[in-house]
Amino acid sequence: MNNVRQILVTAALPYANGPIHIGHLVEYIQTDIWVRFQKMCGHRCIYICADDTHGTAIMISARQQGVTEEEFISHIHKEHQSDFSDFDIEFDNYGSTHSEENFALCKEFWTAIEKAGLVKEQDIEQLYDPEAKTFLADRFVTGTCPKCNSESQYGDNCDKCGGTYSARDLVNPRSTLSGTKPEIRTARHLFIELEQLHTFLDEWTQSGDHLQPEVANYLRGHFLGEPFRDWDISRPAPYFGFEIPDNPGHYWYVWFDAPIGYMASTLQWCNLHGEQFDDWWRNKACEIHHFIGKDITYFHTLFWPGMLKTADFCLPTKVHIHGFLTVDGEKMSKSRGTFVRAATYLKHLEPGYLRYYYATKLSPKVDDIDLNLDEFVSKINADLVGKVVNLASRSAKFVEQQGLSETYPEDGGLFARAAKEGDLIAIAYERCDYSQAIRRIMALADQANPYVEQNRPWELRKDPSKLGQLQDVCTVALNLFRQITIYLTPVLPRLAVQCEQLLGEPITDWKQSQTPLTGSPVNPFKHMIHRIDTPQVQAMIDESRDDTLETTPDNTFSDSADALAAEPLADEITIDDFAKVDLRVARVIEAESIPEARKLLKLTLSFGGAEQRTVFAGIKAAYQPEALVGRLVICVANLAPRKMKFGTSEGMVIASGPGNDEVFLLSPDEGALPGQRVH
Ligand code: MSP
Ligand code: ZN
Repeated sequence: MNNVRQILVTAALPYANGPIHIGHLVEYIQTDIWVRFQKMCGHRCIYICADDTHGTAIMISARQQGVTEEEFISHIHKEHQSDFSDFDIEFDNYGSTHSEENFALCKEFWTAIEKAGLVKEQDIEQLYDPEAKTFLADRFVTGTCPKCNSESQYGDNCDKCGGTYSARDLVNPRSTLSGTKPEIRTARHLFIELEQLHTFLDEWTQSGDHLQPEVANYLRGHFLGEPFRDWDISRPAPYFGFEIPDNPGHYWYVWFDAPIGYMASTLQWCNLHGEQFDDWWRNKACEIHHFIGKDITYFHTLFWPGMLKTADFCLPTKVHIHGFLTVDGEKMSKSRGTFVRAATYLKHLEPGYLRYYYATKLSPKVDDIDLNLDEFVSKINADLVGKVVNLASRSAKFVEQQGLSETYPEDGGLFARAAKEGDLIAIAYERCDYSQAIRRIMALADQANPYVEQNRPWELRKDPSKLGQLQDVCTVALNLFRQITIYLTPVLPRLAVQCEQLLGEPITDWKQSQTPLTGSPVNPFKHMIHRIDTPQVQAMIDESRDDTLETTPDNTFSDSADALAAEPLADEITIDDFAKVDLRVARVIEAESIPEARKLLKLTLSFGGAEQRTVFAGIKAAYQPEALVGRLVICVANLAPRKMKFGTSEGMVIASGPGNDEVFLLSPDEGALPGQRVH
C-alpha cells in the first residue's frame, strides 16, 4: 500500500586528519536515525559516506609523522570506521575521496564544467614557505596583527581585536610549518565562474523545497544579493589531491573533489551490489538527502548544486542542516575536557546514551544543540532506565515459565492508542523532528508505567489463584515495552536486539508496532541499559582534558627499576638518524605559568646572541617557574613549530620521567654555552 521510496542519504565526509569526536557524532547519529527509520518503513534507502582525504592539512600531518599521505589516511580510515560502527552508525558504504572512482567522476565533472565555459585562469599572489616548499593557507601563517599589534595571531583574523585582514598584511609573518619568513609568490590558479549559474541558484535555493527556511533566508541575505565571487578550485604543487588533467603541477582544491566523493562512494556500493549508478544519481525518482553541519552550508547549497546541474546529475532533494554541539553551553574545548573523542566516550559510557540524548535534542532547526552533562545523566536514568526498561524488568521474570497470554488481554485501550500514535511519531522522524518523536514516545511510557503500578505483578505472583491475571498483566506490560522499543529502534538499535532476545521476535518493521505479540515464550530477562553515575561522566571529561593538545604517554610506571621494561627500547637507528635531531644547549630566560593549562609552562629560551624561542613544556606539576629562570636545558631546536592553544611552541625541552610531577629536566653542566650543539 505505501509507496516504496528510493532514497540516497549522505552525511558530510569527515576530514581524514583527526579522530571522530562527539561534535561530529551529532551529524552521523542524526543521519543514522533517519536512515534506520526509512529502512524500517520498508523504503529502499542507502547511507553513504567516506573519508575526505585531500588537502594541505593532511599533507602536513603526514609529513610531521614521517609517513606517506596514503599511509596516513588509511590509518585514519580504519579508525573512523571503527568509531562509527562502535556507535551503531551503519553505513551502506564508507569510501574515500582518494579513490579511482572519485578521480574518474572528478574528470567527468571537470569536462562538463570546462565545456560549459565556467573555467578561467588567473595569477594570484600568495604566501610561500621556501623551506617547507609549499604555498601557505592562512591558517599556516602567524604574525603580529597589523591593526592592534598583538603577537602570534593566525592567518587572516586577530583573536585579540577581532580585526580581519589578508595574511599578507601580518607584521613579521612566520610560517607555522618551518618558522621561516614566508615569501610572496605568484601562481596560476583555475577558477569556476559560479556567477554564470546565479539565476539557477536563486531559483533552486529559494524554491522552498530543498532547504530549511532559515537557510534559504541566510543565503538570500548573504550571497544571492550580489554577484558570486569566482571560486578558486586549483592549488599548485605540492598538494595532496588529484592532479588536474592537462594542468600538470595543479591539483583540484579539496572542496572540488570532496562532494564528488558522495558519488564515488555510491559508485563503489553499486559495483559491490550489482546496481546501476545512474539509477541513483540520474534518476528523478530517486531522492537524494544530504545531512551536513551549518559550517559547510555554502559548499552544499551553492557550489554543489551548481556542479551537479552543470554535469547533468540529479540535484539534492533536500539538504538537512544542523547546528553545532556545545557542551554545558560552551564551545567544545580541549582544556575543559569537553572535546571528547568517540573512542574516549566509549571507554566510559554506552553509545546508546548519546544516541538517545541527541535524539531528544534534535529538531529540523539549524540551532546549535547543547549537551548538558547533568541533564544527560538524568535523562538516561529517568527515561530509558526508569520508564522504558523498567516496564520489562518489572514484568518479564514473572512469565518466564508461561510465556505471553494466547490472546491479547484487555488493557483499557493502551496498546491501541499507542499504535495510533505511531503515525505521528513516524511523521516526526520523517521531518527530522526527533525531539518531538521522543516526547511522544515518552508520553506513551508515562501511560504504560501506571498500568504496571496499579496491577502490581509482584503482588499477583504471591497468590496462586491469580496466575492467569499475572500472565495477562505481564503480557500487556511486555507488549507496551516492545511497542515503545519499536518506536525507539531507529535511535536505540541495541535495545531492539535486546527486546528480540527477550521475546524471540526480531524488530525490523515499523508496522510491528501495530500488532501485539501473543502466545510466545519469554526468555530470562537480562540487563538492558545501565544507570549512569555522574563519576563516569566526570572520568570521561577528565580523560579528555588536555592542555598540551596532544596526549602525553600515560604509562605510569613508578618503580624506577622497572622503567626500562615498562618503556621498551625504540627501534635501532643509525648515527645519521640521530644527527637529524638538532639538540642545542639553551638558557631559560623567562618561565611563566599558564593559568588555564593544567600541565604547561611557557618558557622563553635563549640560544646565545639574539636568538630566542618560546617553548611550551608539560612540566607545571614538577617545577616552579621562578626556579627555572637562569638554568640550562637541552632543546630540540629543529622540531617543526607546533600550534597550541596558548601560542606556538618553537621546540621542545628534553626531560625524563612519566610526566606530571614525575618529570626531570636534563641540563648540561654549567660552562656549556647556549646555542652549542649537543652531540
Ligand atoms: N570534510 C568536510 C566535509 C566534506 S563533505 C563533502 C568537513 N569535515 S569535518 O570533519 O570537519 O566535519 C564533518 C561534519 O561534522 C560536518 O558536517 C560538520 O559540520 C560536522 N561537525 C564537526 N564538528 C561539529 C560540531 N562540533 N557540532 C556539530 N557538527 C559538527 O567539514
Ligand atoms: Zn589585532
